[in-house]
Amino acid sequence: MPELAYLENSFIPLAEARVPVNDRGYLFADGIYEVIVTREGRPFLQPEHLARLEHSAAGINLRLPAPLSQLEKLIATGIAKAGFAETMVYLQVTRGTAPRRHDYPGDLEPNLLLTFRPRPEYPPELGQEGIGIITVPEIRWARCDIKSIALLPNVMMKQQAVEKGCREALFVCADDTIRECTAANIFFVKNDTLFTPPADHHILAGITRGFIIKQASARKIEVCERKCTLEELREADEAFITSSTMDLLPVTTVDGHAIGNGRPGPLTSRIRGFFP
Ligand code: PDD
Repeated sequence: MPELAYLENSFIPLAEARVPVNDRGYLFADGIYEVIVTREGRPFLQPEHLARLEHSAAGINLRLPAPLSQLEKLIATGIAKAGFAETMVYLQVTRGTAPRRHDYPGDLEPNLLLTFRPRPEYPPELGQEGIGIITVPEIRWARCDIKSIALLPNVMMKQQAVEKGCREALFVCADDTIRECTAANIFFVKNDTLFTPPADHHILAGITRGFIIKQASARKIEVCERKCTLEELREADEAFITSSTMDLLPVTTVDGHAIGNGRPGPLTSRIRGFFP
């Protein structure tokens, strides 16, 4: 089954998709994106993803190229056409195509790209054994709530993690405040309470993060969204990270230091069971 793209109003094999060099996404990373995965063939938490797409678009004064109802239809068509058991949908909107200069014409037509690929599978050992993460300095901009395609700090720091044999890198501020990983949100457990940094301008309000908070709260698990420090994380009983592609992965070491007893914790395992 070939991977599929939707570009310039048609579905084509992903391998054949080309964008013009004057696309502002290519020249300036002037664009936004979403990643949505399917569960039992249906896009999971799609309304939440599309609402965040609108938030990101508003955050960079970008007009979406189509109403959300039309984007939903394109996503459904692409998933059906691609025919994978489970699909990872990537949706990107760039400001449009224009000769390179920093400011942009107000009437530029935005460029929409959708890709449809098999949903990545994570080895089950990662869920059972947990993963190691490293900490890295927070060097990103002050609007990380916008899901921008400008991801160079994330790319650089993720690479550092991989080169150190770890799965993720956690951005930490000079005052020890923890933010999020390069492509995932962070949670920790202390005395049966779930802690996670607040969804302000400094992190992406992860859709998986929101799902877990809602599910945990409904089951009377105490959830505390507040500024958290690296010291608190190091002293936590359990920790885990979340994203649409991985759901939830237990974190057992931070910079080589064991969290709790160095094994995925009981609350983490329980929360993993919340996913349908
Ligand atoms: N990234 N924080 C960052 C910086 C992210 O890039 C992501 C997801 C998340 C988790 O958000 P969500 O639960 O909505 O997937 C948090 C996607 C998966 C990516 O860039 O591929």
